[in-house]
Amino acid sequence: MPTLDITGKTAVYGILAHPTDHVRAPQVFNAAYEAAGIDAVLVPLDVTPENLATVVEALKVTRNFHGLTVTVPHKVAMADLCDELAPGGERVGSVNAIRFTEDGRMLGDNFDGKGYVTGMRKAGFDFAGKKVLQLGAGGAGMSIAFSVAEAGAAEIVLANRTVAKAEALGQRVQAAFPGTSVSGVAADADPAGYDVVINTTSLGLHDGDALPVDVDRLSAGTAVSEIIMTPVHTELLKRAEAKGHPIYFGKPMLDEQIKLIGAFMGCPLPD
Ligand code: ATR
Repeated sequence: MPTLDITGKTAVYGILAHPTDHVRAPQVFNAAYEAAGIDAVLVPLDVTPENLATVVEALKVTRNFHGLTVTVPHKVAMADLCDELAPGGERVGSVNAIRFTEDGRMLGDNFDGKGYVTGMRKAGFDFAGKKVLQLGAGGAGMSIAFSVAEAGAAEIVLANRTVAKAEALGQRVQAAFPGTSVSGVAADADPAGYDVVINTTSLGLHDGDALPVDVDRLSAGTAVSEIIMTPVHTELLKRAEAKGHPIYFGKPMLDEQIKLIGAFMGCPLPD
């Protein structure tokens, strides 16, 4: 158990989810607050969708409650409830971080993509000028596609089981970043000829999942990047590593997001 010394002056933050059994933010943030000597606490808030607006209205006027991280199933609904969205939340239409201002307004942003790109940069991968194959066009994939374009990728091909989602996302990213060539294709498109392949699908989370891409069809030297954190070494990363591809793990995305979300909520954590 955390040994936080909570007093009447402690700043309170929350993670909004339903259910909350599996959320890890309280442990992660509270350990960081404690290590940094920050007088703050983050608590789990299990709120059903039908009560979301009521709870949020109450939190907005709770004077010692300053911000939220947001996860399943509330990311899209919370974007609609915000008074203002930062560009990262606006373009994706979902938020995973909220800050309450002193005058009772609610600001939102989405750090999935920024966390991913920052993690990759710190691991030594720069997207500028790169040809990128992104597998998946779901919630996280959407945010990542925008941020990879923003980081200066030359070309992004979005490959998804539901091709219409890849095409629609491709058009939106293309419109926002005309300097990047963006397209949406079916999941079985040829994966040869890219600098990096990013897996944003959920394939790899569970034992026995199919591989999201045929590793034997990748060009030599293509980097392979995951956003799945558990297992650390997904089957995709194992196979890619065995074939000599540079591999990038999923956890840095979360580590960077925690820092970005902490700063956005108004409680920056040390680097
Ligand atoms: P998240 O918020 O984690 O991104 P999501 O929005 O449900 O989760 O997105 C999951 C992604 O994994 C989607 O791209 C999904 O493809 P569809 O858009 O076709 O649903 C992909 N995905 C999930 N299960 C899959 C499977 N069995 N085969 C191929 N792709 C799969």
